[in-house]
Amino acid sequence: MTIQLPENQTAGPADGLSRRSMLAGLLAAGGAASSGLLAAPASAAPAVRAPHDHRVEALLKKMTLAEKLGQLQLIGNEDDARKALAKGQLGGVFSVVGTAKLNALQKIAVEQTRLGIPLIFGLDVIHGYTTNFPIPLAQGSSFDPTAAADDATISAKEARRSGIHWTYAPMMDVTHEPRWGRIAEGSGEDPYLASKMAAAKVVGYQGGDISSPDRLAACAKHFVAYGGAEGGRDYNTVDVSLQRLHNHYLPPFKAAVEAGVATVMTSFNTISGVPAHGNGYVVHDILKGRYGFDGFVVSDYTGIQELINHGLAGDGADAAAAALPAGVDMEMVSTNYVDFGQQLLAQHRITREQVDDAVRRILLVKFRLGLFEHPYTDEAGEVKAPSAAAMAKSREVAGKSMVLLKNGGPVLPLAKSIGSVAVVGPLGTATYDLNGTWSGLGTGASTTPPVTVVDGIKAAAPGAKVTYAKGCEVEGDDTSGFGAAQDTARGADFTVVVVGETAAMSGEAAARSNIDLPGVQQQLVAAIKATGKPFAVVLINGRPLTIPYLAENAPAILEAWAPGVQGGNAIADILFGTVNPGGKLPVSFPRAVGQIPIYYNHENTGRPADPNNKYTSKYLDLATGPLYEFGHGLSYTTFTIDGLTLSGTRMSTHGGKITVSVQVTNTGKRSGDEVVQLYLRDPVASIVQPVRKLRGFQRVSLGAGAAKTVTFTLTTEDVGFYDNAGKFRVEKGKIEVYVGNTSSAELMDTFTVG
Ligand code: BGC
Repeated sequence: MTIQLPENQTAGPADGLSRRSMLAGLLAAGGAASSGLLAAPASAAPAVRAPHDHRVEALLKKMTLAEKLGQLQLIGNEDDARKALAKGQLGGVFSVVGTAKLNALQKIAVEQTRLGIPLIFGLDVIHGYTTNFPIPLAQGSSFDPTAAADDATISAKEARRSGIHWTYAPMMDVTHEPRWGRIAEGSGEDPYLASKMAAAKVVGYQGGDISSPDRLAACAKHFVAYGGAEGGRDYNTVDVSLQRLHNHYLPPFKAAVEAGVATVMTSFNTISGVPAHGNGYVVHDILKGRYGFDGFVVSDYTGIQELINHGLAGDGADAAAAALPAGVDMEMVSTNYVDFGQQLLAQHRITREQVDDAVRRILLVKFRLGLFEHPYTDEAGEVKAPSAAAMAKSREVAGKSMVLLKNGGPVLPLAKSIGSVAVVGPLGTATYDLNGTWSGLGTGASTTPPVTVVDGIKAAAPGAKVTYAKGCEVEGDDTSGFGAAQDTARGADFTVVVVGETAAMSGEAAARSNIDLPGVQQQLVAAIKATGKPFAVVLINGRPLTIPYLAENAPAILEAWAPGVQGGNAIADILFGTVNPGGKLPVSFPRAVGQIPIYYNHENTGRPADPNNKYTSKYLDLATGPLYEFGHGLSYTTFTIDGLTLSGTRMSTHGGKITVSVQVTNTGKRSGDEVVQLYLRDPVASIVQPVRKLRGFQRVSLGAGAAKTVTFTLTTEDVGFYDNAGKFRVEKGKIEVYVGNTSSAELMDTFTVG
C-alpha cells in the first residue's frame, strides 16, 4: 500500500523530528501500514553522535572493517567466544561467570588480538548477584526508589568485583498484562512509578562513574513496548498508537537516559508492524535522536536473526541491513553483522558511517568503564556469598516490598508470645522459589538458599511450637495431604498458609492463561478455613493472581511476592509486627482473567460503567473495577491525609509550577509507613486523558501520633501529554488533583493551566 502524505506534512515538525517520525504518527493515527517505511534507514533523521572522544577516534582510525564488525558481536558462551576471539572478532561476552574464566577470555582479547581491545562482560544481574533481593515487581510495591537503588548498589558491587562489567537491568517494561510472566521483572502498570524506579536503579548500578570497581554499566530494557504483548503471550505482537507509545511505554526509558544509562536493549516484539530490532523510528529517531542517548544499543538474544521469523527480513543479510541502520549497535548471539557487514557495505545497503557510529558507541562505553586501563579483575576479590550487611539490606527491602491486601479482625500482627503456629502449604519450606525469576548469578539458583517461611517464623517466635504440613504441591491435583494439613492447623493457635507460584511460573517465556492459584492450593485454603481456626494467607508469586476466593474467605492476605534470599525472615518480620507493612500495589489485581487488560490509568469511555445502566462499559457477570486496585495496601496502624493545599490556582503553559501539600498523620498506636500518592486528571483534552495518572508519591515513616507535611511540585511536564504525532502538548484548561493513599483517593482540588 502507498501512503498519500498531505503536502504540508512532508516537512519536519517544529520539534525537529524526522519526516519518518511524522509518517509514524500518521500510520499510528490510522493510516495504511507499511513496515518498510518505519524500518527504512534514517536518512532524514538528525544524526546524533556519541560525544567526540579522542581515544575513541584514535582507535577507530586504526581499525580494519573486520575488527570494527567484530566489536559489534556479543556471544553468550565460552566456547563460541573463544572461536570468535581467534578470528579477532568479538566485542563482548555474557552469561559467563567466575573471575578466572573471565580473566582468561580477557587475556586473549588484550594480548592476542591485533589492537588489544578489551571485552565487555555482561550478565543478567536483575535483582541480585549473590544476594537476591525481592523481584523488581515487589520493589515496585515499595513505592520507595531507595529500595531499588539499594538492590542496584549492592548488586553492582558484588558483580563488578566478580568480573562483570555490565548488567542487563533495569527492566522497565510497563504492562497491563498479568498473564505475561515478565511482569515480575518490571515495576508494574504505571509509567511514572516505573520511571522513578528505573532512574533509581540506573543510579544505583552506575553511581557517578562506571569505571569504579564497585559499579556496573546498566542496560535499560526492553526497548520498547514489550509489555504490550497481545494476550500476555511472551514475544507477541504489540500494536500501539503513537500517543500511547509516548505516554505509556517510553517514559521510563526517557528517565533512564536522563539518569545516564550506559546502554539500552531492544525488545523482541513488533511495534505497530515493525519489530523493535528493525525499528528506526524508536531506536534511531526517538532514543538516539530525540533523547540524545549516546551509549550503545544491544539487541536481545538472537533478536536480529528473528527479523526473519517476524517477516521483516528474508535472510540474515536483510536482517543486518534492517537492524544496523535502525540503530541497533551490538548483536547478541546471532552473527549477522560479522557475517554480512562487508557484503552489505559493498552493496551500499549499510554505510561506513553507520558501522563507525555503532563501533564508536561501544568503544565509548568500554572507555567509560575503564576497561582499557583495568581489563582484568582481581581474582581474590570475587564475591561468592552475601555479606551480612547485604543480607540485612535484602531483608529490609523485602519488608518494604510486601503488601498487606486484607487484614480482617485484625488477625495480624501475631503476638511473639504465641504458643503455637502451624505453617501449611507447598511454599512453606520453599527455598529457591522465594527468589523468583532471574536469581543468583543468572543461573537460576543462588549460592545461598533463601530462608524458608518455617525457619523465619521459628526465629521470630523462638518460644512458639512451629509445625508444618505441606498439604499439596504448587501444581497438580493431589489432595491427599489435606487431612494432615487440617490436623496441623487444628493443633495450633494460628495457621499461616503459604501458597502461590514457583519461581519458574513467572519471568521470561512463562505466560499463564489462567492466573488463579495453581493446582489445588485454593482448595487447601478452603480446607484450612473449614477447621474454623484463625489463619492468614501468605502469597509467593511473580504476578497479580485472580484471588476473589481468598479476598472473600481468608481473614488476612499478605502479598509477599518472590521476596528473595531473606524471604522467610522478612515475612515473619511482618507477620509478627516487627515490620509494619507499608507496600502498595504497583499493578491492579483483576477479579477474573476475562477482565484483562484492567489498569487504573485507563481512558474513560463515552459510557462509563454504571451498575444501574445496562448500556455502559462493563461485564454482565463481574463487578466493575479490579479486586485490589493500584496503590492499595494496608498497615497495622491508621493514617489520615488531609489539608490539601495548592500554592496557586493557575499554572502557566510556559514553565509554570504549582506546589501541592497535604498533612499526613499516623492516627494509630504503632509507627508505620504510608505512601502518599498524588494523581492528576485532565478532564478535557485534545487526546482523551486517563481517568487518573500518578504524578507524585512519597513513602513516609511516622511514629504513633506523629504528623508530617508532604509537598509535591507539579510542572507542565506533569500536566502535558504526547499526541498522535508523538509531540508533547501542554493544553489550557482545568486539572484535577487527587491525593491519598490509593488510586481511588477522594481528596481533591483543581487548578487551571493557561
Ligand atoms: C532476555 C533478556 C536478557 C537476555 C540475555 C533474553 O532472552 O529477553 O532480558 O537480558 O536474554 O540473557
